[in-house]
Amino acid sequence: MNPSFFIQNIPIYGDLILSPMAGFSDIPFRLICREFGMSMSYTEVVSMDGVLWKNPKTFKILDFRPVERPVTFQILGNDEDKITEACRIIEPLGPDIIDVNMGCSVSDIAGKGAGAGLLKDTSKIGRIFSKLTKVLRVPVTGKIRLGWDNKSRNYLEVARILEDNGASLIAVHGRTRSQFFFGKADWDAIAEVKQAVKIPVIGNGDVKCVEDIERIKRHTGCDGVMIGRAAIGHPWIFQYKDRNHVSFHEKIELIKRHLSNMLEYYGQDVGVILFRKHVIKYIMGMHNATELRPYLVKCTSSAEILDLIASHIDRIQKHEAA
Ligand SMILES: Cc1cc2nc3c(=O)[nH]c(=O)nc-3n(C[C@H](O)[C@H](O)[C@H](O)COP(=O)(O)O)c2cc1C
Repeated sequence: MNPSFFIQNIPIYGDLILSPMAGFSDIPFRLICREFGMSMSYTEVVSMDGVLWKNPKTFKILDFRPVERPVTFQILGNDEDKITEACRIIEPLGPDIIDVNMGCSVSDIAGKGAGAGLLKDTSKIGRIFSKLTKVLRVPVTGKIRLGWDNKSRNYLEVARILEDNGASLIAVHGRTRSQFFFGKADWDAIAEVKQAVKIPVIGNGDVKCVEDIERIKRHTGCDGVMIGRAAIGHPWIFQYKDRNHVSFHEKIELIKRHLSNMLEYYGQDVGVILFRKHVIKYIMGMHNATELRPYLVKCTSSAEILDLIASHIDRIQKHEAA
């Protein structure tokens, strides 16, 4: 199999990537996605302050398994010296790539000039990338939005600055900061970025089914496709399978396995709480899912989740027999 593209000299086999998603794209979920065909891993984002203050939670987020390689650590920050110092601290933990988040839309973050807030200060973006690419041995990449708002869609300027300052890849979420996660993602803009730079471009936004994967590739010419919300509860998208092509049995088996991996990784209490938001996505579209959902989101033990699922299977079987 030939690599789909390279990040500097790192070959990437396959072109589907799970979007970094705080609260979702952790080790247990990434390992499942990887097994199903995801081509590389991005960690959930960490803040430069969390790294500099040596916050144990921050370092737990950067945990990864060798089988996930190539692994990208994602960081956000609003100060070139501090973000550089934070990257120097995390580079020895062994990532293959470090990515700078320029897309986070959360007011507390973007409002302080980090995440999508960086898009308002393009010269700072240049300084950050110029420093990071000099100081770090691993390739440095960037994940951007199209701009702050509709009046300031500066994605082409940002893309060129990234390339000129040594970035090895750009992932483009085709929305502005003020769109948050709403409205249609603009794939024309992603296509413009692809035309404007020579480094690989990853297309992201509104990839909801297998057909969308092919459509965004054709429409934008992007080198890879990043899938976020559509992969939650449906990692089979990395096997090029839509929800209606996965059997009820397969879904139940994966729910049990994912839950068990969460318990093993986080311990019983935290594992169950964190799994609740996954399980309600796994059951989407199943018979009686809307009735089951309010009970699942209140479960406090794995036994409760498994009992609910078992009674659901029972009901489905009776429904099918009737
Ligand atoms: C719950 C959630 C958490 C997210 N966390 C991150 C993050 O940590 N880093 C990042 O670059 N983007 C983050 N994003 C944005 C996604 O990576 C992606 O760009 C966005 O969801 C659009 O892709 P989609 O339409 O396929 O969901 C997050 C999105 C969601 C829904």
